[in-house]
Order: sequence, then structure tokens, then C-alpha cells
Amino acid sequence: MARITAGIASSHVPLLGVAADMGKDRNAYFTPIFEGYDWTREWIAKPEVKPDVIILVYNDHASAFDMKIIPTFAIGCGERYKPADEGWGPREVADVEGHPDLAWHIAQSLILDEFDMTIINEMDVDHGLTVPLTMMYDAPDAWPVKVIPLAVNVVTYPPPSGNRCWALGEAIARAVQSYGEDLNVQVWGTGGMSHQLQGPRAGLINAEWDNMFLDGMVGTTQKLRTIPHIEYLRETGSEGIEMVMWLIMRGALGHETRALHRHYHVPCSNTAIGHIVLEPVDGTVPPSSTLEGTNAAAQAAI
Ligand SMILES: [Fe+2]
Repeated sequence: MARITAGIASSHVPLLGVAADMGKDRNAYFTPIFEGYDWTREWIAKPEVKPDVIILVYNDHASAFDMKIIPTFAIGCGERYKPADEGWGPREVADVEGHPDLAWHIAQSLILDEFDMTIINEMDVDHGLTVPLTMMYDAPDAWPVKVIPLAVNVVTYPPPSGNRCWALGEAIARAVQSYGEDLNVQVWGTGGMSHQLQGPRAGLINAEWDNMFLDGMVGTTQKLRTIPHIEYLRETGSEGIEMVMWLIMRGALGHETRALHRHYHVPCSNTAIGHIVLEPVDGTVPPSSTLEGTNAAAQAAI
């Protein structure tokens, strides 16, 4: 059976992709940032850790979607995704290879579980997805893992609630656990931490709140899932809402987690950068009343 073995959260600051692509990732400014990922790079390359598939939760920044279409939750079921042109030409990094069989299985399971996913078969992926891959894998000719993109709207109000994101993570865990192939699956949540890109509060960083959030990813506490949108806005700036995407990863890891590695640094561009590696201690997730009820027969046929 497929199994979720770990979760990673990471900021996806676009400047980090630029630094890596220009070979400046170990200069005086960027070294304290990239050093925070050295442990993870060694860890994820170990044979007993190396994932087969990453469910990579990120947000699109008006690259694949714009005001014409704004899916709250979208899952990529395609074979392959190209790096998006975000205004300076596409990053010269490898295409991202998908896992259509698992992605379609997850899409079916989630929709029968009453999460109304948008299914995407063709799209380009921007820094929200490619920068975390760079931070973990550097610049290989081909990424050593298949990726299922899971895009969340955190750009245009209203984004989903943290509670809904956590519940989606739990539903993703149920979906993965019902996939018959033996696969090592990781879930990554990206974005954040505190940052505001515009207006009178541009440059806002709240290290105390960010570290409270990192603390809340660990153990059995579920206090993060009830943080209202207004608290993200007030405490972490207008773009801090990206952190709800971390809660999809946290929900997918189940009842209890343990932190394997943690890193926090200010500044990174005009943001705080945070990174944490978690493993499930008790990966139990609540059963779905829907899947056990009206859609049980359909789900059993997956
Ligand atoms: Fe972002």
C-alpha cells in the first residue's frame, strides 16, 4: 500500500530560485538560508527516506490561473509540467514529472469524500512549486521524484480556512492509504512565513508568531487549524495566509508528529523563511463519514 512517510514545510521565496540559478546560493547573504536546507538534502537522499512521489501543496501566482479562473483546490493529474514563464522566461530547471495514476486515484477519493477538487491536466508550474524542489534537490537534469501538484488559492480573497485545509490533508491521507501500489509518499506544504509585499506595512515580519506556528506543527496539538484569516492578516501580513497550505501537509500526517529538522531565518528577500521536516508518530486520521456512508460503494470500487 502507498504510505505517507514524512512531511516538509518550506517557504517558496522566488529570489531563492534566482540565487540558485545564478550560482549565488552560497554567498554571504544566501548562505544562512541555504545552509538551513543542508540537513534535509542529505536526509532526503537516503535510500530509506527517498520518496517516490511528493504531493506538493503550493499556490500559483497568476502563472497558470488568473482572474478568469480561481480554483480553491486544484490537483494536477497530468503526465508532465513545464516551469512557468513568470516574466523573465521560464527557469532553466527540469520539467516536473507527474504521477497520473495516483493523482486520479486521489482526485476520485477526495471528490467522493466531498472535497470538490478542480482537476488540472495541463498547466505550467511557477516558483511556488519549483523553488522548494530546488531547495531540496539542487539542480539535477531530472527531478528524482514524481510530483502531484496541489494548488490552493491564497492569492484572491477568500482563501480556504485553515480548518478546511487540515481536513483536506486528512482526506489526502485516506486517499493515499487506499492506493494499492507500494509507494513512499511525502506531502509538502509551501509558502509563508510572515510577509507583506505591498502597502504601508510592506516588509512586515513577525518572528514570534512564525515560531509559534512552527511549534504548532509538532505533536498532537490542533490549535493551528482554528486560526482565523484576520489573524494571519494582522500578525503575518497580507501574504502570510500562504501558511494555511502547511496545514494540508500537517493534516495528512495524522494524529501526532515529530520534528526531525527546523530552520528559521530573517531576512530572505523581504520575508521570513521557515522550514520544518516532520514525520508521523501516529498517522491515524479520522474516518470519513461520507466514505463510510453514501459513497462507500463507489469508493470501494477505486
Ligand atoms: Fe507564494
